[in-house]
Amino acid sequence: MSTPTSNPLVRISTLKSLDDFHALCTTLGIEIPAMAPDDAPSPLAEPAPVVVNGKRPGNRIVIHPMEGWDGTTTGGVTDEMRRRWRRFGESGAKMICGAEAMAVCPDGRANPNQLVISEENKAGLAELMGILTSAHAERYGTADDLVIGFQLTHSGRFCRPHSKQWESRVAFRHPILDRKFNVTSDAQVFTDAEIEELIVCYIHAARIARDVGADFVDIKHCHGYLLHEFLGAHTRPGKYGGSFENRTRILRGIVAGIRADGNPIDFGVRLSLFDKVPHRPDPARSQPGRLGPGIPEDFSACLPYRYGFGVNENDPTEIDLAETHAFVGLCGELGIKVLNTTAGSPYYTPHLQRPAAFPPSDGYQPAYDPLIDVARQIHAVRKVKARAPQGLCVIGSGYTYLQEFLPHVATAVVRLGWADAIGVGRAVLSYPAMLADAAAGRPLEKKTICRTFSDCTTAPRNGLVSGCYPLDKFYTQRPEFAQLKEIKKKVGA
Ligand SMILES: Cc1cc2nc3c(=O)[nH]c(=O)nc-3n(C[C@H](O)[C@H](O)[C@H](O)COP(=O)(O)O)c2cc1C
Ligand code: SF4
Repeated sequence: MSTPTSNPLVRISTLKSLDDFHALCTTLGIEIPAMAPDDAPSPLAEPAPVVVNGKRPGNRIVIHPMEGWDGTTTGGVTDEMRRRWRRFGESGAKMICGAEAMAVCPDGRANPNQLVISEENKAGLAELMGILTSAHAERYGTADDLVIGFQLTHSGRFCRPHSKQWESRVAFRHPILDRKFNVTSDAQVFTDAEIEELIVCYIHAARIARDVGADFVDIKHCHGYLLHEFLGAHTRPGKYGGSFENRTRILRGIVAGIRADGNPIDFGVRLSLFDKVPHRPDPARSQPGRLGPGIPEDFSACLPYRYGFGVNENDPTEIDLAETHAFVGLCGELGIKVLNTTAGSPYYTPHLQRPAAFPPSDGYQPAYDPLIDVARQIHAVRKVKARAPQGLCVIGSGYTYLQEFLPHVATAVVRLGWADAIGVGRAVLSYPAMLADAAAGRPLEKKTICRTFSDCTTAPRNGLVSGCYPLDKFYTQRPEFAQLKEIKKKVGA
């Protein structure tokens, strides 16, 4: 798939029909399948092809993990969280794939307000489970076919557990990211002994997840966070770096440790299927009050590029799925049941991870139509699904940019067997039941369709709680909304 740099961005809201959508894809040289969701009984309404904790999810609609940077400073539960989990329950999705990233130890938080999965916070987590489950049962009659996972994480390079200051811990020294995120010392590299202590934290976290009723734990391997970074630790010496076997040793250790603990909880993994070299706003096309379009960082001094996963080491502007397929095969061997796909990192390749018309304040303007990145994820997932082991439920991501056409594309992708289920992220923050409405043949509430303004990312990048400020009245009324507008004006996001 080519990556044109000069195509104008066509606003999805200006497309009047499915034919217009197909025509735009043709113009862009991409293939995105789409069919009217009301053509036949929706495939999204069929049960998902997986059994987790003895339950088959009642449909193929999934809520992606989304945290709100809104816990207490000891990683505990707040009213904003209670509201978000209730809305997840009301969404009609039958799989809650992670709910939100939960740090397995306080120092591994991505922000001072991230949820921590600990004994101290167990009652709060149980309460969130109860809120989500009863909200779902009240609206849909039963929660017996609702599957809920907890996403376990250590934020590694992107740790900010105490303030806005980075307190990065890394898998290896990275020639570009170290500069960008102020990693200055080898002491920030995890030692093998520290990894073994961390594996124990995952085992404890999984026990808590089981105790409070989660159906599975998602061992997060995405977005540049620690375990994802380890998958790209080609240059690291010792037993957790170098070979594919060494780079996947942590996952195998966590799974074996949880089983040795006598914990029968099921497993999921969220994986960035592919990545690219970090991007930045083009300085030649940036001006005060206007971020430039995204371009790759200069990687000429870092070839072969042995610092990533799912990226071509000879040309890191290209993706390479060879090891991705191997990792997915390993997931099958380990008995992992849920593979929630994603791509890149919101910190250094946000265009891959969250295709958007408007960038977050630490991002860049789209260099080309974001539909191209939507298509990139759909086709990577299609390839992975085609070779995935039996019994692994493969979930697609990055659909929110499709807006009015999200239901059309989700329907077509599931019908074609390119993914087993469709995950929704930002679209849920503004309109929780969007995909469930479409699957049931109800008309969409157009006013609350996410337009990818990125405020839910810009807010936390600037120390504010996340939420859909433009479209969700709960956040629109907050004083932070005015603050956000100022921030966006200043940086030109
Ligand atoms: C506010 C916000 C919080 C997020 N938090 C998480 C998270 O905790 N864990 C995770 O794996 N992904 C997280 N993501 C990424 C989403 O799960 C999803 O992959 C991304 O938004 C792309 O899907 P979409 O196009 O449907 O929004 C977050 C995204 C947003 C916008
Ligand atoms: S702030 Fe709201 S409209 Fe903007 S990207 Fe986030 S969910 Fe979508």
